[in-house]
Amino acid sequence: MMLILPDNRFNHQAGSEITPAHVYARRREFLQQMAAAGWMAGAGASMAQSPVTRPGKLAPLNATVSTLAGAQASDALTPYKNASTYNNFYEFGTDKSDPADNAHTLKTRPWGIEIEGLVKKLGRLNLEDLLKLSPMEERIYRLRCVEGWSMVIPWVGYSLSELIKRAEPLGSAKYVEFITLADPKTMPYVGSRILSWPYTEGLRMDEAMHSLSLLTFGMYGEVLPNQNGAPVRLTVPWKYGFKSAKSIVKIRFTENQPATAWNKAAAHEYGFYSNVNPNVDHPRWSQASERRIGDGGILTKKVKTLMFNGYEAQVGQLYAGMDLAKNF
Ligand code: MTE
Repeated sequence: MMLILPDNRFNHQAGSEITPAHVYARRREFLQQMAAAGWMAGAGASMAQSPVTRPGKLAPLNATVSTLAGAQASDALTPYKNASTYNNFYEFGTDKSDPADNAHTLKTRPWGIEIEGLVKKLGRLNLEDLLKLSPMEERIYRLRCVEGWSMVIPWVGYSLSELIKRAEPLGSAKYVEFITLADPKTMPYVGSRILSWPYTEGLRMDEAMHSLSLLTFGMYGEVLPNQNGAPVRLTVPWKYGFKSAKSIVKIRFTENQPATAWNKAAAHEYGFYSNVNPNVDHPRWSQASERRIGDGGILTKKVKTLMFNGYEAQVGQLYAGMDLAKNF
């Protein structure tokens, strides 16, 4: 994206670079057949193995297919090639291809997440322990970028709530702040003035505890490519993509609403909530529709953007009584 500079906003790849998605399209049918055959009945439901084809590029990350309501978008998957080469990760550059070109310098071991603030269990959790903290699930989420494009990706991880519960937040903890790596030695743009670093994000406690908020370690059955936020990121499917912070190194529990990177950069354009909302335009463009990356590039017909990115049944209640035009 270039959230600030509009000229980069629709820097799509040429159609010829795009791999067709049909290889993935039969997934839903496959799951239905498994269900009909009794494979997914009762307690066995969470044991179904993923039918997603692994790209074979990185280490496999085993997961069972999530049966959580809302965890399986039926839309055709975005090809791995697009999901891993059309990225926003400003620490590595502002062009969509920059993260894939530059993020090989990111050092993902050793890694850990520091737990800070209003919790009983303060301290550092090593990546190895994080990987074992809860069983891995595969969830197919739509991710809608504030710039007007979207993808459908099989993420691997577990609910962020699993980690939060283990940290034992105090009653005074009302928000969760996510702080990401800012290492000028390995991240060439951390010295730039595009954003104030580190890139940070935040959620209200009930949003963070919502089962759809995914602490993410992989995609397409393998560990995350660096450019997608290795080794651990957030995926919050009902919010614009920038809420899904990549390469997290610290999680802080706070009483007050934390500042967030994009809100600091342009408060009138990027609010704290940033729920996907086709009825609230960005000051510089409409949010009513989106272009799916991966099936035809710039010529792809746009599809209507759905309220809460299609997750309204699951998350709408979190915002009951709030004016979503004011709390954008
Ligand atoms: N996290 C960090 N640390 N830095 C970033 O620039 N970009 C955000 C989000 N997380 C960003 C980040 C934005 S704008 C989007 S749309 C998503 O990552 C993109 O995730 P993807 O490249 O895996 O699709």
